[in-house]
Amino acid sequence: MAGEVWKISGLITLFLSFSTILTEEILDIDPSGYILYCPCMGRFGNQADHFLGSLGFAKGLNRTLVLPPWVEYKPGISKSIQVPFDTYFKTEPLNTIHRVMTMEEFMKKLAPKIWPPEKRVAFCYMARHNSEGCNAKEGNPFGPFWDTYDVDFVGSQFYKPLNYDVHHHDMAVKWNQEFPPSEWPVLAFVGAPASFPVQKENIYLHKYLQWSHSIEEQTWSFIKTLPKGPFIGVHLRNGIDWERACEHVEHSPNLFAAPQCLGYRNEHGVSTKDLCLPPENLIIKQLKRVIKNIGAKSIFVASDSDHMIDKLNEALKRMKVTAHMLKPSNPHVDLAILGRSNHFIANCVSSFSAFAKRERDAIGFPSSFWAFPPEKDKKKRPVHDEF
Ligand SMILES: *[C@@H]1O[C@H](CO)[C@@H](O)[C@H](O)[C@H]1NC(C)=O
Repeated sequence: MAGEVWKISGLITLFLSFSTILTEEILDIDPSGYILYCPCMGRFGNQADHFLGSLGFAKGLNRTLVLPPWVEYKPGISKSIQVPFDTYFKTEPLNTIHRVMTMEEFMKKLAPKIWPPEKRVAFCYMARHNSEGCNAKEGNPFGPFWDTYDVDFVGSQFYKPLNYDVHHHDMAVKWNQEFPPSEWPVLAFVGAPASFPVQKENIYLHKYLQWSHSIEEQTWSFIKTLPKGPFIGVHLRNGIDWERACEHVEHSPNLFAAPQCLGYRNEHGVSTKDLCLPPENLIIKQLKRVIKNIGAKSIFVASDSDHMIDKLNEALKRMKVTAHMLKPSNPHVDLAILGRSNHFIANCVSSFSAFAKRERDAIGFPSSFWAFPPEKDKKKRPVHDEF
């Protein structure tokens, strides 16, 4: 009897000390500090580019990166919606390359200790909106973003002339001299501390951005419904906003994500209308070529507007190849499926396409681009030029 009691109390003691260890581990404060930011520019593709840059920046400064929620916009709702980072991505692989934690975890467990309401200063390059300060919560998604976590700012801090390129000019050292973690445990940025498109030096970080189990499951259950055999993933970016953007392509030789095929200094050419918005005959011609090359049995189409399913089925009928899309639409699962296709044809100008292209490069899967290289250059360059 006494022995039993001893055993039980021993277990309780063990349990208590174990949970203390757990709690302490979770609440460990990083003496090197934290970085917070609002992914306040663009939709998912742009936010992902910014995420890689912000991760590179946090790693350069050796501060823990607080993983912000993804900012989404729903038709008919005027305020942005914040979706926790780990809804779409695993945090464990990221933790193997640098220290990260979700915004939810940070706000709940650490903010009361190291970032209480009276210490919440917003960081920006210089004053915004013709005002004195950063105006971190002015406009959408700025206001709704911080409101999601009940954050108000008591002040502003400008960091001009510092920048986010930690790969040159000792920039990380300069940041830590100007804002030492002992004095500034938290740097909270009004926008992402990163450039767009993603800086070349940060592309490798994509490897650590891996889909959550839920997205993975939805991806595989869709792929299982496709006809047996290799499939080609294609991205058709063709909504009305995009058509308008492409009209100006000739005046911006490296529009949006275009450096992914043209090179960061346009060493592989300049943007063209076809590269931005490939015409139907070009799409079909290019698809037929890839179908023959890899013996594809089906096409998976991701699009923001016209998936061209009927047109593709008609054009590819004689090759016995069918076109498919995800219903109901889900852009994250779309991307994950594109990432797993046997060959991917990307829109070079689109950051959405760029996401899948980077993911595939990291695993060594082949991709190509619509209308690139341009027909007349074909002989000079192989089709699957991955740079
Ligand atoms: C980076 O930060 C970690 C965690 O705070 C710390 O243990 C490590 O010494 C820091 N590294 C450098 C080079 O300062």
